[in-house]
Amino acid sequence: MQFAGSHILSVQQFERGDVEHIFDVADRMVPYAHRRRVTRVLDGAILGSMFFEPSTRTRVSFGSAFNLLGGEVRETTGFENSAIAKGESLYDTARVLSGYSDVIAMRHPAAGSVAEFAAASRVPVINGGDGSNEHPSQALLDLYTIRSELTARGRDIDQLRIAMVGDLRYGRTVHSLSKLLCLFGSVQVVLVSPQELRMPGEIVQEMREAGLRVVESDALEAGIANVDIVYSTRIQEERFSSLAEADLYRGRYRLNQSIYTHHCEPNTVIMHPLPRDSRDNARELDDDLNDNPNLAIFRQTDNGMLVRMALFALVLDVVDQVDRHARDVNWYTAGRF
Ligand code: NCD
Repeated sequence: MQFAGSHILSVQQFERGDVEHIFDVADRMVPYAHRRRVTRVLDGAILGSMFFEPSTRTRVSFGSAFNLLGGEVRETTGFENSAIAKGESLYDTARVLSGYSDVIAMRHPAAGSVAEFAAASRVPVINGGDGSNEHPSQALLDLYTIRSELTARGRDIDQLRIAMVGDLRYGRTVHSLSKLLCLFGSVQVVLVSPQELRMPGEIVQEMREAGLRVVESDALEAGIANVDIVYSTRIQEERFSSLAEADLYRGRYRLNQSIYTHHCEPNTVIMHPLPRDSRDNARELDDDLNDNPNLAIFRQTDNGMLVRMALFALVLDVVDQVDRHARDVNWYTAGRF
C-alpha cells in the first residue's frame, strides 16, 4: 500500500509485504526508542491525540512516539472535555481538528466512528480503537512481538501456534490480531472463551478461508497445552449491559505460574494487550508470573513505541530522513532496555 498520507483504520488494508515493511521501519526506530539517539525529523509537526475512551498506554505511547520523532502533541480526552458533548458531529470535529494537526490518533467507543471521522479529516487518522471493532496498531505491535519472541526461540510466524483466551467477543485486540494472522496461512489458532463470549463467526470464517487451522474451546488447560503463545485478554466490562453481567465471566480463566507449569510447553510465551485486571475477582494473568522470563507483556508495550513511531514516519513520509536529523542523547540512559 501507499503509506504517505493514508489513514490506518483496519488491519485489512495491509498485505503481508506492508506488514513486513512496517516491521523493518520499526526496527530502524530502536536507537531512538531506546534513547541512544535523538531525532528531530518531525520538528514543527503536531499530533492531534483524541481519546474518547479510557486509555493509558495507547494514548501515551502514541504521544511519546510522536515526541521521539521531534513532534508536538495536542490532547483531547473524554467527551466531557470536547465539543462533542455540545452535540457537535464527528464530521465537524474532524474538519476542525484536521486544520490544527498534521496527523490524528483517535479512540472512540462506537465501532466505525474512527473511519467516519477519517472520511472528513484533511490529515491521516490512525485508529486507536473503535469500540469492539478494531485496534490495528495494537495488532501490529502484537505481531511484531510474536515475531521477535519466536525468532528468539528459533521459529517463525508461519509455524505459529497461538491460543487466544478470554473475552473474544468484545476484545478488539483479538479481532484485529486474528484478521492480521490471515496473512500467514499456516498458523494454528485455539480460541478459548466462554460460549457467550466466542470470537465473532465472521472472523472465524475469515481465518478458516485464509487457511488457518482454528479450534474453538471453553477449556483453558487443554487450550494452552500445545502452543507457542498464550494471548490472554481482559473481560471488556465496558461493553456489557451491566457490571453484574461482566462479573459472570470475570475470573473464569486465570493463568498463574502453577497452571503454566502444569499445562504449558516449556518457554510458552505469555502475552496480554494490557491492562490486565488485577482485582481479586479477575486476575486473568496472575502477578505470580511477573518473574517468569516468558512473560512478554512489557516487551509488548516497549515494542508499541517502535511500531507507532514507524506508522508516523510512514504516513508522514519521513522514513528516509529520520537518521539525517539525529544526534546522540545528552543524558544518562543506561539499563532501561
Ligand atoms: C486494549 C484496548 O483498549 O482494546 N488495551 C490497549 O489498548 N492496550 C485492551 C483492553 O482494554 O482490554
